[in-house]
Amino acid sequence: MRRVVCPGSFDPVTNGHLDVISRAANLHDEVVVAVFRNTSKTPLFTIEERVDLLREATSKIPNVRIDKFEGLIVDYCKANDISAIVKGLRAVTDFDYEMQMAQMNYNQAGVETLFVITNPLWAFLSSSLVKDFARFGGDVSGLVPEVVLDRLAGRLAQG
Ligand code: PNS
Repeated sequence: MRRVVCPGSFDPVTNGHLDVISRAANLHDEVVVAVFRNTSKTPLFTIEERVDLLREATSKIPNVRIDKFEGLIVDYCKANDISAIVKGLRAVTDFDYEMQMAQMNYNQAGVETLFVITNPLWAFLSSSLVKDFARFGGDVSGLVPEVVLDRLAGRLAQG
């Protein structure tokens, strides 16, 4: 079985993430979407909330599973029999950092990274921009799945 992982913070999941996840799912037997617990950042959504949002948003893709991890992604790959990491590349601005990470992960653990070029529809999109716009009353419908839109409004209303 060819199992790959799409790692990320997913705070929150956007339509850009879903594009990469669904395309990875078309190409592999199983895609594990692994939500990173980053202890040095304060997220808008807890890790459990991010996992739940991803579960709902990917519920129609049968070969996608959601999990969470902390520590190194290469250790997660080894522990879960995962052969490669799949990442989206939005623009050249993503490239330098992603290349370094991919080379480090291959150098340290022999884990490959596969890149999906983001659909131009979502090339500008990031979780941070969605949060910034939504926080100041911007309309982010069409950029995130419905379930995120509902939860985002509620969370930001709490202040
Ligand atoms: O959605 P993000 O925040 O851009 O995702 C970044 C993420 C979680 C994919 C990346 O930071 C990562 O893989 N972190 C796990 C820790 C790790 O393995 N770091 C070394 C990478 S060379």
